[in-house]
Amino acid sequence: MPVSAPDQLKRAAAERAVALVADGMRLGLGTGSTAKHFLSLLAERVRGGLRVVGVPTSEATRAQAEREGVPLTTLDDTPELDLTIDGADELDDRLRLIKGGGGALLREKIVAAASRRMIVVADGSKRVKELGRFPLPIEVVRFGLAATRRAISAALKSAGAEGELRLRSAANGTPFLTDSGHYVLDAHLERIDAPERVAAALAAVPGVVEHGLFLGLATGAIVATAEGLVELGSV
Ligand code: A5P
Repeated sequence: MPVSAPDQLKRAAAERAVALVADGMRLGLGTGSTAKHFLSLLAERVRGGLRVVGVPTSEATRAQAEREGVPLTTLDDTPELDLTIDGADELDDRLRLIKGGGGALLREKIVAAASRRMIVVADGSKRVKELGRFPLPIEVVRFGLAATRRAISAALKSAGAEGELRLRSAANGTPFLTDSGHYVLDAHLERIDAPERVAAALAAVPGVVEHGLFLGLATGAIVATAEGLVELGSV
């Protein structure tokens, strides 16, 4: 049977990624539906005797790891990690990413930055020529939202990217709150010509906690397509 449904592709990428895990590794555990497959497969190996510790990038991932019996640690106890496996909303050929569709971008970026290697697991639909069709998540503190929003619009414009900023809502219609209690503004930019300029401009806005451009963090990617697995960078 051909492996083509998005969920089967995500699982296929996760299966390849779990083979990269060696005994004794300190892992960053990503968030999202692809990372969830990885964590389930990792848990199977842990039940078979593999010894690892993981730092979860969200409360959802923490809950899954606890449920499935994957030992956890913190970046306070384990500030350097060997390998992080995480999904992405978009990735380009230079391993630049947009992340944060699930709202976990802040912890995901901290964990990725603490890892020697970060491998992205994704289905082929995530691979793009140019970043930006997926709305760029920007995590902001709640204080001063309207002022921060204006400053973000100006910063984006100065970096050559313009588009609507939408405050993300939860399922019940109230503003979505991240695990750290912040809001998320999704920037509908359609295309980001200069991701590095946009990242620098956003980082300079007071009130911006973090943004979903992950630049220079991913060291490799496993992309599952109907034709098979494609590996980018160093896997
Ligand atoms: C979570 O905040 C995100 O960065 C996810 O890693 C990203 O949205 C990919 O999720 P899926 O694997 O569910 O597509």
